[in-house]
Amino acid sequence: MNKLRPLPTTGARTGILEALAFFRDPNFAKSRFDRLGNVFETSMLGQSMVFIQGEKAISDLLSQSEAIEGWWPASVQQLLGSHSLANRNGPSHKARRRVVAQLFSSSALQRYSPRIISLIDELADELKTAQAPLPLAEKMRRFAFSVIATTVLGLEGNDRDKLFSDFEIWTKALFSIPIALPGSPFAKALKARKRLLKRLQEILSNPINSKGGLDLLAGSLDEAGIPLTDQDLGEQLLLLLFAGYETTASALSCLMRELLLKPQIETWLREEIDILDWPPTPDQATMVYSPINAPRLDALVKEVMRFNPPVGGFFRRTKKTIILDDIVVPNNRVVQVALIASNRHGIVDLDIFRPQRHLENECSLNLMPFGGGERVCLGKSLAELEIRLMVVGLFRKLKLEVIPDQDFSLRQIPSPSPRDGLLVKVKD
Ligand code: HEM
Repeated sequence: MNKLRPLPTTGARTGILEALAFFRDPNFAKSRFDRLGNVFETSMLGQSMVFIQGEKAISDLLSQSEAIEGWWPASVQQLLGSHSLANRNGPSHKARRRVVAQLFSSSALQRYSPRIISLIDELADELKTAQAPLPLAEKMRRFAFSVIATTVLGLEGNDRDKLFSDFEIWTKALFSIPIALPGSPFAKALKARKRLLKRLQEILSNPINSKGGLDLLAGSLDEAGIPLTDQDLGEQLLLLLFAGYETTASALSCLMRELLLKPQIETWLREEIDILDWPPTPDQATMVYSPINAPRLDALVKEVMRFNPPVGGFFRRTKKTIILDDIVVPNNRVVQVALIASNRHGIVDLDIFRPQRHLENECSLNLMPFGGGERVCLGKSLAELEIRLMVVGLFRKLKLEVIPDQDFSLRQIPSPSPRDGLLVKVKD
């Protein structure tokens, strides 16, 4: 066993400058890892936080499930609510996960596929008939929201749009300072939360007649072993909208950006997808573009998630003193797994976007865009399905080009997305 070492620290106390740097500097974690090693502590607005990177520290953390629990910043905790499984631990987290997981089983995904395919066909038609360039990133947001609102909750048209506008208000305050001064984003978000929960409870009171997947929950509620009220279930649905929309939209927008700005990668991918059928039949849709049938597409998705992970980091809190990569981390510390830095740490060429690396035998990267352990993302299979269907559908049906003279750089918060929205038009 190696010699244990004390936790290195930046020495920050109030954490005001650290928090500003965190939001402004994409190299925040990297520069501190370079100086202090793979595990270090700092303060962010008075909250002490331990950052970790590298396979050893991350696997040490996730393998000690009895010594850690879930954690989210106060703003997220309050906006998601105390029933939300994201804010629960132990048996009450497990029971809710079991219930919500019903919505993402393979038979559920098969049921959602036809509607996802028609959302993609509708988008392709909209792009084809547009008189002016359209922001593709915005279209990806709409799409990712619609997938959950339509396929899972069974909402269409006006009902879906009303939910979308309140949801945008709610999302804006997720990573803000949680003080509800009148007129502040946080106060507006709390009001939007009330309206959203009211609407979600109305939807829940009539799920059997809806076209979504909520009837799938009915069978599992009794097995949960705890009474799940409508308030409780409403908060789980709110979590799904939060967790599944910005993240998937970010992955899709970053992927489109790479393809449209790097024609050699588009050509390489098209060699594979030009021979795939579109649309897939409902019983084939969940499998037909899988890594076995479409390895280049799989490599591209992996590289996008490595290079610009939609969730830059995920959190745990220690319940005991634990050892991470030979560093002693005391009890009651918030630990952030720093995915952005971790994904570029190690071998030399990780600062280059190169999907082909995932097809090479020696590639041994252990990527965790969906987190890990007992809290690994519940919507991983749905997200991967949406992304694969969108790429094949759109690129089989259209040739797109970007409008020059726009800012292609990525804003990072809450998830990476092209600053000017990735304006595109269909090639003549
Ligand atoms: C590319 C898209 C997505 C990415 C990158 C992503 C990533 C993540 C990450 C990093 C976590 C934290 C895991 C952890 O703490 O170990 C998470 C949790 C979660 N995600 Fe996703 N996610 C995506 C899409 C979705 C979708 C589509 C849904 C559902 C509609 C979803 C539902 C959830 C839920 C419910 C949790 C909380 C799990 C728990 O606390 O037990 N996610 N996701």
